[in-house]
Amino acid sequence: MLLLPWNDRKGRLSPLKLGVFIWLFIPGLWTAWQWQQGDLDPKPVTEALHQTGAWALRILLFSLAISPLRTIVHWPRLIDVRRMVGVGALAYLVIHFGLYIYDQKLDLFRVASEIVLRFYLTIGFIALVGITALGVTSTDGWVQRMGSVNWNRLHRTIYWLLIFCVVHAFLQSKVDVSEPVLDTGLFFGLMGWRYLSARNMKGPLALAGIAVGASIATVLVEAAWYAGKTGVPWTRVLAANFDPDMAMRPAHWVLVMLLALVPLRMFGQRRAPAPRKVLKARTA
Ligand code: HEM
Repeated sequence: MLLLPWNDRKGRLSPLKLGVFIWLFIPGLWTAWQWQQGDLDPKPVTEALHQTGAWALRILLFSLAISPLRTIVHWPRLIDVRRMVGVGALAYLVIHFGLYIYDQKLDLFRVASEIVLRFYLTIGFIALVGITALGVTSTDGWVQRMGSVNWNRLHRTIYWLLIFCVVHAFLQSKVDVSEPVLDTGLFFGLMGWRYLSARNMKGPLALAGIAVGASIATVLVEAAWYAGKTGVPWTRVLAANFDPDMAMRPAHWVLVMLLALVPLRMFGQRRAPAPRKVLKARTA
């Protein structure tokens, strides 16, 4: 049977997988198009580095959100695209690293010494190696070879690797850290879900709590970063988050994005079979 990325396990075309497969190409093609049109000038490589890094992180976060989303909207088949999305993030990272090597005039000795000497590159490199290892071992064959306990233990390291990615992104952002702050807030949301769902708290109220908690933590991270890095008093950053005349801050986006999951959860709960029906189906 021909194993095409957009086919399901039975070899049939899956519209969901095909849609996600196409979507994964769009940011990269958009960057390539902008480069070709001269829209990334005067520093196309730097701009492409920025865009590929940012998309790698977004796609990585999305890959980790697939399991929670599957439960939230009660759509079991969503899991079919998790591996593809993870591999997509890895592909963006490989291009990101390739662009860096190109930017260093393909001087591999210089690339290696920069990675050793610069902390932000060291952690970026560790994350890249770790995510590559997870990508390689993400197949069914590797699950069988390693056993599900060891495989899960290895793949849980993604949360640590993600912290490395976010710190790398923070250190790489020059003045405006809105995007890494937003990524951090979404990461808090994911961790909140992991914590509460392990305690069987998966309802709309739990999600609303996660949204509020993650957005408060986001404000604190933002305030701490600006205070530590630029000396802007943390109270000013806090105040900006409550000023209706200011544009939306990362914490607001975190709140809006995570609160949007509350009605989705209500919808998902309605779609889920009632416990009695599940029992009947199991005993049938
Ligand atoms: C060997 C590995 C890596 C190298 C050499 C590397 C190199 C770089 C460089 C030089 C930049 C700065 C571009 C600029 O000046 O705007 C950058 C930015 C960035 N990188 Fe990496 N990177 C690596 C791994 C990673 C990983 C694993 C991630 C995680 C997804 C990542 C995410 C980002 C992001 C989000 C930015 C943009 C920061 C911003 O400008 O807002 N990078 N990287």
